[in-house]
Amino acid sequence: MSQSTPFLQSLLSLLLLLLCTNYALCDPLVNFQVAQPPPFILDSESLQCTTTIIQRTFGSSIGDPEIVKYTPPTGCSTPDVWAGITLNFTVTSNGTQLPRFAFFTFQNVEIWRSSTSIPNESGADGIVWTYVKDVTRFIPLFSQPGTFILQLDNVVQTGLDGEFAVTLEATIFSGSSRFPPAQRADLIIPLTTLANNTGDEASVPPGFSLEVTLPRNAVTAFAELQASANGDDMFWYSNPPNQFLSYFPDGIISEGPFREVRVLVDGQVAGVAFPYAFLSTGTSPAAWRPIAPYGALDMPTYHLDLTPFIPILTNGQPHNITLDVASAESDHHINENWYLSGLLQVNLDSSTLPTTGNITLYQAEDYALSTVTGSNDSDINIIVNASRSIHIEAEIIAGSGEQTKVVFTQNLEYGNVQNYPQHDPNPQQVFQIASGETLSTHNGETALQDTFTYPLLMDSAMPGTGALWSQIDQSYDRELHPAPFIMGTTIVEHQVAAGTVNTIEIDNFGSNGTSSNTFNYIDTEGNTYTRQVNASGSAITFDNQGGTLAPKAAS
Ligand SMILES: *[C@@H]1O[C@H](CO)[C@@H](O)[C@H](O)[C@H]1NC(C)=O
Ligand SMILES: *[C@@H]1O[C@H](CO)[C@@H](O)[C@H](O)[C@H]1NC(C)=O
Ligand SMILES: *[C@@H]1O[C@H](CO)[C@@H](O)[C@H](O)[C@H]1NC(C)=O
Ligand SMILES: *[C@@H]1O[C@H](CO)[C@@H](O)[C@H](O)[C@H]1NC(C)=O
Ligand SMILES: *[C@@H]1O[C@H](CO)[C@@H](O)[C@H](O)[C@H]1NC(C)=O
Ligand SMILES: *[C@@H]1O[C@H](CO)[C@@H](O)[C@H](O)[C@H]1NC(C)=O
Ligand SMILES: *[C@@H]1O[C@H](CO)[C@@H](O)[C@H](O)[C@H]1NC(C)=O
Ligand SMILES: *[C@@H]1O[C@H](CO)[C@@H](O)[C@H](O)[C@H]1NC(C)=O
Ligand SMILES: *[C@@H]1O[C@H](CO)[C@@H](O)[C@H](O)[C@H]1NC(C)=O
Ligand SMILES: *[C@@H]1O[C@H](CO)[C@@H](O)[C@H](O)[C@H]1NC(C)=O
Repeated sequence: MSQSTPFLQSLLSLLLLLLCTNYALCDPLVNFQVAQPPPFILDSESLQCTTTIIQRTFGSSIGDPEIVKYTPPTGCSTPDVWAGITLNFTVTSNGTQLPRFAFFTFQNVEIWRSSTSIPNESGADGIVWTYVKDVTRFIPLFSQPGTFILQLDNVVQTGLDGEFAVTLEATIFSGSSRFPPAQRADLIIPLTTLANNTGDEASVPPGFSLEVTLPRNAVTAFAELQASANGDDMFWYSNPPNQFLSYFPDGIISEGPFREVRVLVDGQVAGVAFPYAFLSTGTSPAAWRPIAPYGALDMPTYHLDLTPFIPILTNGQPHNITLDVASAESDHHINENWYLSGLLQVNLDSSTLPTTGNITLYQAEDYALSTVTGSNDSDINIIVNASRSIHIEAEIIAGSGEQTKVVFTQNLEYGNVQNYPQHDPNPQQVFQIASGETLSTHNGETALQDTFTYPLLMDSAMPGTGALWSQIDQSYDRELHPAPFIMGTTIVEHQVAAGTVNTIEIDNFGSNGTSSNTFNYIDTEGNTYTRQVNASGSAITFDNQGGTLAPKAAS
């Protein structure tokens, strides 16, 4: 085979580009987020039933979510033997568009939050992506008929012509000898707006509160929270503290870089989350072609054990549960807005008699402790630190007489360092790290554990007029056991991605980004998965998958 000359090569690619643009002859760019495949999808023994839940093209769709009725599939197996459920979200898009949130609400519970990858403006070849998510912990919801709502607020107008063509399929896997029927909660209670005509996420500030009544024989309650920043708080991790605003030109977004998501029961702090900084494919677009930021297609959620509050929550009365986001500013204000929602996975006692007990120790401040320092002697340098220490203990006495001592602790740390040249609001360097451990034990046995480290380093520079280069170095290291009946996972993920945007023609972001990813996964069932994948100029340059969950051809 003869070598083609560079001249021929560029002529060929030019021809290909013209063909792709004019006749849609090319395959779309396949975008993806690095993630483990759900464990049971490789189980050939398991009976599988796939149903299409949603098929819809989202053009201008503000105030027009997709609302469908769901009934559990018949002729598959009965819910009591279900081993797992996956959702397959497959989307195509052409033209130009911004990233958008996708909120999946089922039975008034938010079960998945995703965002859309931005399409490829070079024409009809477009972009496609698939994300397959394990939603096994929501079997109690999928066992009942109910309403499924997909809110994907898209705007189509001059200059923004991208629509999102969506297919959402659910696959139910029946238990096999290898994958027994999944353990599950007795009921799932939404901590959402309960809206039936749109997604059920709450926009804060102000804090969102809901009156919740638990069955009187509830014995455990594990909370899961969704939290993502939007609008003026989108880049919260790069906001300077208010006390240093005089270092910057007027109009810079403030309220500092620290955010904590709080859960309150009747006004008392029950637990908090130091959130992972979600990046969308709109943050330096070329960097995310074709590998989306970790978490962009499946946003991490936060887990707390509210079991210490069971003696209060089971008195038969409604209780006020509040979700909010606080900063380290003196008034704890944040910018508009964050989208929050939550749910409680609740287990009941075998007896119908009411649960009783007492909170025996309560140590939790209303807000995190924080320190802020800064100087503008030569460059501007700002450091914000925060920490949290929560310790709550309770004695729970079930109607059946079973006694449980519950100990819930959180020890969380946060640091943020910002460096700017003087008089320049463009963040030149932001380093943030949140880390810590949430632990709860029931009679000494671990019931919930979340040990995490989320470092983020963002560098930017202007290599020439109208060009803004950014590099993002972000990790997600987390050992998570959400509840005794939900599979635990350990993920060590590291992504370094860089790209240049044309700041004059914002949508002309080119394709010369680079990305490198290393991903390691292991779960409490012994499944493993590793992936090392690099990309350059919108193409994969290296891809190696391994472990028991790797697709056969790839391992
Ligand atoms: C658009 O997609 C095509 C096909 O994958 C690719 O050749 C081209 O580089 C992409 N353009 C951008 C700007 O990503
Ligand atoms: C996901 O759904 C898409 C569209 O229906 C389909 O082409 C694809 O094969 C599915 N992927 C998996 C892993 O089920
Ligand atoms: C993308 O373009 C192709 C070819 O014109 C078309 O068939 C497809 O429906 C488009 N998809 C979207 C989401 O616009
Ligand atoms: C939505 O429907 C549920 C079930 O019918 C109902 O309990 C709830 O109050 C409704 N939500 C609103 C906001 O009306
Ligand atoms: C440094 O900040 C102070 C306010 O704290 C301001 O008065 C001063 O002008 C700033 N110096 C420079 C060089 O920007
Ligand atoms: C619920 O608690 C929040 C936080 O303490 C408080 O702001 C709100 O007023 C309370 N709502 C009700 C109805 O008591
Ligand atoms: C525990 O709570 C019960 C009510 O559930 C109450 O009667 C009792 O005094 C409490 N005991 C202690 C030690 O606080
Ligand atoms: C504050 O956070 C930074 C960045 O993580 C760290 O280097 C520094 O040691 C922290 N300072 C304190 C007092 O904890
Ligand atoms: C690629 O990025 C560099 C900056 O790193 C920029 O100077 C160059 O113009 C870009 N090339 C293309 C084809 O976009
Ligand atoms: C992937 O990219 C990283 C960062 O550029 C590099 O260090 C590593 O060697 C690359 N891996 C492979 C297998 O090319």
